[in-house]
Amino acid sequence: MKTLPAPTAPAVGTDLGAAARAVLAANWRGRHTVPSARLYPHQWSWDSAFIAIGLARVDQHRAQLELATLFGAQWRDGRVPHIVFDPDTPADAYFPGPRFWAPNSPVIPMRPTSGIVQPPVHARAAWEVYRRAADRPAAADFLRRMYEPLCAWHDYLATRRNLGGAGLAAIVHPWESGMDNSPAWDDAVREACAGGATVQAARADLRHVPASQRPGDADYAAYIDLAGRYRDRSYSDADLLPDHGFAVEDPLFNAAFAWSEESLARIAAVIGANSRWHSDRALALGAAIADRLYDPELGMFVPRDLRTGRQIPVAGVAGLAALVSPGLPPDAVARTCAQLNSSRFWNGHRDGRLLATLDRTSPDFDPQRYWRGPAWANTTWLVISGLRRHGAAAAAEALRSGLLETVRAEGFREYYDADTGAGAGCHDFSWTAALVLDLLG
Ligand code: SER
Repeated sequence: MKTLPAPTAPAVGTDLGAAARAVLAANWRGRHTVPSARLYPHQWSWDSAFIAIGLARVDQHRAQLELATLFGAQWRDGRVPHIVFDPDTPADAYFPGPRFWAPNSPVIPMRPTSGIVQPPVHARAAWEVYRRAADRPAAADFLRRMYEPLCAWHDYLATRRNLGGAGLAAIVHPWESGMDNSPAWDDAVREACAGGATVQAARADLRHVPASQRPGDADYAAYIDLAGRYRDRSYSDADLLPDHGFAVEDPLFNAAFAWSEESLARIAAVIGANSRWHSDRALALGAAIADRLYDPELGMFVPRDLRTGRQIPVAGVAGLAALVSPGLPPDAVARTCAQLNSSRFWNGHRDGRLLATLDRTSPDFDPQRYWRGPAWANTTWLVISGLRRHGAAAAAEALRSGLLETVRAEGFREYYDADTGAGAGCHDFSWTAALVLDLLG
């Protein structure tokens, strides 16, 4: 039987900050925060980075612990898994669970995890924790503990994931983009399904959110197929091409990488390590993003498919989030910023702006369906950060007020209908609450 959430939005009340803190308190599990109590009942990688950024405003200790717990599950090769499973959560609460990711393990290990990754916003989050900290000595100790694990994470991305040879990190599964069912991945999804992929088990997500707001069954079949293929090669990245069904250089992922690498330079300077190496790599990443992912016809950044060697000409919010990267050429920055005023991404809504996930003029635009249209807090926050970086303060403020007004009206939802602002996905979503705390300042 389906147990869908209550249709009415929870009252946020007049104090948005207090309501956001209450969501994060309810989702706290002692050493980490779940993104959502029922839909995502474990620890997720980039969720925890965004959560730490919000917690940095209100609880330094919890912010530090959030990131330290995630990195406690880091693999020996440096990768930070996208899910760290909570052994106290029932096995059927989330699919695919620990048995899927480690089927040959006779016992589920102490720290069961998935084997794929998510966008590397963590070093930026660690830096935010430090710069907001009331207890500076404790925060500096935290940076000293996090520095080597963060370097190992970035080294994994820069070496083993350098599948295209230009220094950018490739993602090998749609979930690694964080934007699971983006239309940019439709070709790869169709191919996986043509190869016979079908959903192998009951989808737990549809017990909590209406199917019209989630990825379709074909998408899920492809996710499971691609993850299974990567698992069956023991998550090795060596010689992945040409056979693996998904290998992409994504603008959001790599811009987050470059931004985080720049943050590692700042962290290194605080703890007395060599920062030059990090700032050089941050700029090199920015140059590679400009060289390989800028589409001069669209006037923004797009993913590159490493299987075909061609850019995927889909105008999505990931291409705007690239603005967080250092080292981008001014003309590419100016044209990308101008997208905010185009019919692709502009929508006047409640005196502010709701930033859609996808080009509103695209035939694939679906204002309610997960990463095919709705407005999300984290992508909006990234684009705000990118706009601020380049001095576009008014555009950043319009997005900020648009998001805050929407959350005030609808509650801390997972995402919002890009046309109407109506809340969608699950309720009491942690990164929405966390990033609201950051945007409230
Ligand atoms: N976002 C994915 C999900 O919906 C997995 O990370 O489960």
